[in-house]
Amino acid sequence: MVKASYAALIEGEVYVPGLSSEYVAQKYGIPLDQIAKLGSAENPHGPSPKALAAVVEAAGRIDLYPDWTAKRLREAIGQKYGFDPDNVVCGSGETEVISMVIRAFARPDEPVLMHDPCFPLYRIYSNCEGRRPVFSPTGKDFDPMIDRYIETMKQVHPKIAFITNPHNPSGRMVTKEDVIRVCEAASADTLVALDEAYVHYTENEFGMKLLPNYPNLIVLRTLSKAFGLAGLRVGFGIAANSKLILPLRQIKPTWNMGQLQIAGGIAGIDDEEHVRRAVKTVVAMRAYVAERLSSVAGFRMVPGSRANFFLLEILSPELDSTKVFNELLKRGVIVKDGSDIPGLGSRYLRVDVNLQKHMDRFVSALAEIRVA
Ligand SMILES: Cc1ncc(COP(=O)(O)O)c(C=O)c1O
Repeated sequence: MVKASYAALIEGEVYVPGLSSEYVAQKYGIPLDQIAKLGSAENPHGPSPKALAAVVEAAGRIDLYPDWTAKRLREAIGQKYGFDPDNVVCGSGETEVISMVIRAFARPDEPVLMHDPCFPLYRIYSNCEGRRPVFSPTGKDFDPMIDRYIETMKQVHPKIAFITNPHNPSGRMVTKEDVIRVCEAASADTLVALDEAYVHYTENEFGMKLLPNYPNLIVLRTLSKAFGLAGLRVGFGIAANSKLILPLRQIKPTWNMGQLQIAGGIAGIDDEEHVRRAVKTVVAMRAYVAERLSSVAGFRMVPGSRANFFLLEILSPELDSTKVFNELLKRGVIVKDGSDIPGLGSRYLRVDVNLQKHMDRFVSALAEIRVA
């Protein structure tokens, strides 16, 4: 018998997602409805009702192949933001668009610039595809230090420069002026990829308006967050320069958007009411949890988040993030352990902003750890 021997083609970092409520409920014997799920930055009010109705209606068509370019969805997205469908490419979540951007715009071994820390998938996909991630540091309380970023950009001439606005994991925002400075400093063969996954929660959306001025700018968006459709998997890239979109369409998996994603995406993208509701809750609860945390000793909320999550710094030297993470889990509170986010580390946890009952559960559980 011939023995097979497989060498791993790809080694290294694997993405660590937030835990599911079902897993924690089963492991700790906690009723599902008493779990505060604060590790995946999901919508506090669930799915867009309009998207949900459209998905149910479209379920009868799943025997048919979808349009391979998701044209109707591209039309809906283009119409919303004032562009042609040819200026839009859709992905099974924004993460798929990120992976396509890395493959289409950087060759093997070419540099891809990102902040440290950053959304791990920029780095993971770059490494998996043999592209070379290059990092620009963040400063005190994760200040994006755009002067430094531009300096690094000029030194390494990246093929792609990712800017996350607001930043994940800190929630810090890059100003419009600074995004413009990055676009203007980028050479003609650097693609600026502005990731606006959480932009609604900043109440200051400007990326789309910059597009017509910058032929090397692409804005990346998702319906997973403010639209409440993380489980549907709909994301997109949009650029005023359709030459940026064409290669993405060429390399994308052919039928990457199914009938349900297309139908739910078309209905969801127009559900402004749902977005407004989520933003209102997140803005109010961000202030609420900041206030509540100010009286819990041993921890500090890192200031400046404009997203639906924030970083919690652990001040007590006898605690680290994994210990706090596990203690919170036992109390039915799921957050993200900073040790699982390279560049962040064991003094931090990332915590979602969600409904008041979940924020209260989180703060109470944290206060118990302090005295334990
Ligand atoms: C910064 C950032 N970009 C993109 C995404 C991808 O979202 P999705 O693939 O669900 O559309 C996420 C998800 O966590 C994110 O944090």
